[in-house]
Amino acid sequence: MAVPLLDLTQQHKAMMPELKAAFVEVVESGRLILGRYVEQFEKELAEYCGVKHVVGVSSGTDAITAALMTLDLKPGDEVVVSPFTYLHTAESIVRAGGVPVFADIRPRTFNLDPDAVESVITEKTRAVLAVHLYGLPCDMFALLEVADRHGLSVIEDADMAMGAMYHGRKVGSLGHLATTSFYPTKTLAAAGDAGAVLTDDDATAQRLRSIRVHGLEAGFVVRRPSGAFRMDPLQAALLSVKLPYLDGWVQKRRDLAKRYKKLFEPLAVTTPDSAEDIRHAYNLYTLRVRGGGREPLRHHLDAMGIGNRVYYPRPLHLQPAYHRLGGERGTLPHAERTCDEVLSIPMFTDMTHAQQDEVVGAVREYFAAD
Ligand SMILES: Cc1ncc(COP(=O)(O)O)c(C=O)c1O
Repeated sequence: MAVPLLDLTQQHKAMMPELKAAFVEVVESGRLILGRYVEQFEKELAEYCGVKHVVGVSSGTDAITAALMTLDLKPGDEVVVSPFTYLHTAESIVRAGGVPVFADIRPRTFNLDPDAVESVITEKTRAVLAVHLYGLPCDMFALLEVADRHGLSVIEDADMAMGAMYHGRKVGSLGHLATTSFYPTKTLAAAGDAGAVLTDDDATAQRLRSIRVHGLEAGFVVRRPSGAFRMDPLQAALLSVKLPYLDGWVQKRRDLAKRYKKLFEPLAVTTPDSAEDIRHAYNLYTLRVRGGGREPLRHHLDAMGIGNRVYYPRPLHLQPAYHRLGGERGTLPHAERTCDEVLSIPMFTDMTHAQQDEVVGAVREYFAAD
């Protein structure tokens, strides 16, 4: 039996009448840019995450760009980020006028190492962009402590971690600002592109509402150019339908992750890290395969029809786009090695135990033949 990496069809089938009704309501309202459906979802997500304001935007990438724009970066200002994330992070730093500075990760959690962050701070550093990779919250207490000591802002990127918790608090409420994406592979997913910025600060929220419409202020005045980062009300209405289900979906993923961990125990793969007081949201379930075994395992899974993908095959400091920053192989060894060893395998809310057994069986077969 083939098992896809992600299958949302069951989830959508179950809620299709609600989704259709929401879609029709927005179209019939005639209010197709921002308006009450976006405001409603912003209110609901703010309540869910325990923050004062949510500002709906066009994507997760634009959310980071808009969040960084509130810092008014000056030429040469630096933002520290992990090299082991998607392209949208470093790219947003550049779009907001800053310079990305890469700090290495902790190999067990895949997230920024707070000591590595501290080691790259200079007088030009303004912020730390903390990506909760795969759904596992970063070591926020340590990152916030480093940031406080150096007067920096911490922006959480919660794209993969909506529904995750850190010491009793929802991800998205831990940094000075937070961003998220509702890209269709995320656990709380739109039917297209959408994102949001979260903040407790009234002035920052007001600024963000201006930034998402070209930086416009009262009287058709623009002080700083920004962009068109508006959230689509159709996406907002669909997300309002889905949000009440999020905790249940995360719980199902956690149950599947627990079962995967047990089933993989006898095999030579490292399963994701988890810790007390941390609620991993398992947007992705990512194994680490050491000793050069990742690529052969991948080919075996492909041949068996088992969905798999490498998030991410190349660290950002080794991307040609950032060569001018001086990143060389060997400078961030944990991120570099991790890119060669990670493999994400099927994980979705409606995954059955039979599908899970099929995935584990295929991995077991690979090691038996090895
Ligand atoms: C595969 C992938 N695409 C895109 C994004 C960024 O989000 P968006 O597409 O909403 O800008 C991420 C962020 O985690 C990602 O992992």
